[in-house]
Amino acid sequence: MIPRKKLIAGNWKMNKTPADGVALVRELVATVGKQSEVEVVVCPPFTGIESAGRALEGSTLKLGAQNMHFEASGAFTGEVSAPMLRAIFATHVILGHSERRTLFGETDEQVNKKVLAALKNQLRPIFCVGETLAERESGATLKVVQTQIERGLEGVAKDQAASVVVAYEPVWAIGTGKVATTEQAQEVHAFIRELLTKLFTEPVAQKVRILYGGSMKPANAPELLAQKDIDGGLIGGASLEARSFVELVTAAAAIK
Ligand code: PGA
Repeated sequence: MIPRKKLIAGNWKMNKTPADGVALVRELVATVGKQSEVEVVVCPPFTGIESAGRALEGSTLKLGAQNMHFEASGAFTGEVSAPMLRAIFATHVILGHSERRTLFGETDEQVNKKVLAALKNQLRPIFCVGETLAERESGATLKVVQTQIERGLEGVAKDQAASVVVAYEPVWAIGTGKVATTEQAQEVHAFIRELLTKLFTEPVAQKVRILYGGSMKPANAPELLAQKDIDGGLIGGASLEARSFVELVTAAAAIK
């Protein structure tokens, strides 16, 4: 079986001007822009995607967005579409991030439409799922994750499913400094892979990268990334500085 290439994606959220983004990308290009052991993706805010894309040209770094609308064009004030992202050479798009779900009311149905639209336009979705603290404390974690996955990936064809990247991000661990234990994370990752096996067959499920997200830092990354079903990280806070982000890429490269 071909091992899954580790993926480290930086979710800059609503941070950095285009100029700040370019400066960060230049540092990343200089340090990890030639290696191809780990797939590295940066996801600037919309205003910085194009300039970041130019700054990473010729390197192995890839470009992603943090959200998009599911329609290709039309009267959707404030929105951006998959073809627009493709036109500026984005290859990835984060979809269904918990901040989109909780702060902006995105539903599983909307996330599903976005996943389908991304795939149709050859964008790889980084499809996020995860439970809240209350859900974990009430023992509902696996059920919540299962529902999000089943609804979010409804209608995805078997031959496209391997392009999906799943990000498991316990909501209580995002930006809080509270990281899931390796056991907690691996348990959910293994459960997700089992579910993907049921939905898309074993060979497909073995190809899907499942990232962990939620306060991943250089200090906790090696242990998390060494878990059998943890194929990388979706990084918020630690992606905003070259030093910590590069350390995460290095930690992923060190796992054999
Ligand atoms: P964090 O964010 O690394 O700052 O916890 C992760 C995310 O929200 O993707």
